[in-house]
Amino acid sequence: MTILVTGGAGYIGSHTAHLLAELGRDVVVLDTLERGYRDAVGDLDLVIGDIADDRVVAKTCRKYDVDSVIHFAAYKAVGESVSQPLKYYKNNVSGTIALVETLIANGVNRIVFSSSAAVYGTPDSSPVNEDAPLRPQSPYAQSKADVEHFLRSCDATGLRSVCLRYFNAAGAHDSGDLGEDFSLTTNLVPVVMRVLFGSQARLDIFGDDYPTPDGTCVRDYVHVADLADAHVKALDYLATGGTSLVCNVGTGQGTSVRQLVEVTESVTSRSVPHAIGPRRAGDPASVYADPTLIRAVLGWRATRDLREIITSAYRWHQRHPDGFKR
Ligand SMILES: NC(=O)c1ccc[n+]([C@@H]2O[C@H](COP(=O)([O-])OP(=O)(O)OC[C@H]3O[C@@H](n4cnc5c(N)ncnc54)[C@H](O)[C@@H]3O)[C@@H](O)[C@H]2O)c1
Repeated sequence: MTILVTGGAGYIGSHTAHLLAELGRDVVVLDTLERGYRDAVGDLDLVIGDIADDRVVAKTCRKYDVDSVIHFAAYKAVGESVSQPLKYYKNNVSGTIALVETLIANGVNRIVFSSSAAVYGTPDSSPVNEDAPLRPQSPYAQSKADVEHFLRSCDATGLRSVCLRYFNAAGAHDSGDLGEDFSLTTNLVPVVMRVLFGSQARLDIFGDDYPTPDGTCVRDYVHVADLADAHVKALDYLATGGTSLVCNVGTGQGTSVRQLVEVTESVTSRSVPHAIGPRRAGDPASVYADPTLIRAVLGWRATRDLREIITSAYRWHQRHPDGFKR
């Protein structure tokens, strides 16, 4: 019995696929490599193909005797989704529907799905729990909400799902040889690393007049190794008969942009040049998780703090200044 990891050549998927292999589980990665890297897959089995290609997915299910899926494959750039909504709905929503149709036809009835805290939009308050209203503010966030809704409906087919709403994934593998592609992303930790390593002159902090303790925006940074562990727990939950579930994956701790800069300077003994600019449209002041549900049902909690996130990201950037090769 094998776990199919779609998008397993990407950032979070590769960490999860390697963790599963370390735990002795059989894994096969399915990825187009459009936004992922062969080197991130290493010596794990890799099928190069699209989730929407029913022949490739069906053949993979049969060849590897797939019994469960972790579905990471998607586009994830919020800004790009605003300018190219069709691309996002087609890949993230239509692609998932095609994938699920093939999975069901091949007797696979357990799926863990990468959702996002972006489904909450600007929450009324933080910590935010799973009952908060969904107010997606971009085609990307809407695509995640749509897939959650679709998967819930699929309960009627016998497919059981866990939708994990990630907060801000950050950090890298302990080895320093697996990490986030920092060339494209606008996520804070990779941007701070770009500044430290000289490919960006300074960090622009968008606003310091928010109603937060130091005026800068507050987010919930989750170490990618902890995130990977949440997927293992979600798979085990489904394998032991758990019913469909939607839950947050966050630490429950808010960290401001200024705090993140301070921790980075302390961990690396280097200064992070930065400048305060105006607020950016659409940025909520404070978003961090209420992780009560995932603790109670999956027995998961974050075990790594911000220092470990920064230390591991720094190590990855030092060892791989140009990221993975294409
Ligand atoms: N990184 C974050 O902070 C974050 C936060 C919330 C949710 N997520 C979600 O988690 C998932 C993984 O994120 P990531 O940061 O690892 O992204 P990533 O871009 O590094 O990885 C996504 C992978 O999916 C592959 N892919 C895309 N479309 C595909 C398709 N049609 N068929 C096969 N492969 C395809 C890409 O080539 C890439 O390797 C995504 O669904 C993303 O939306 C990420």
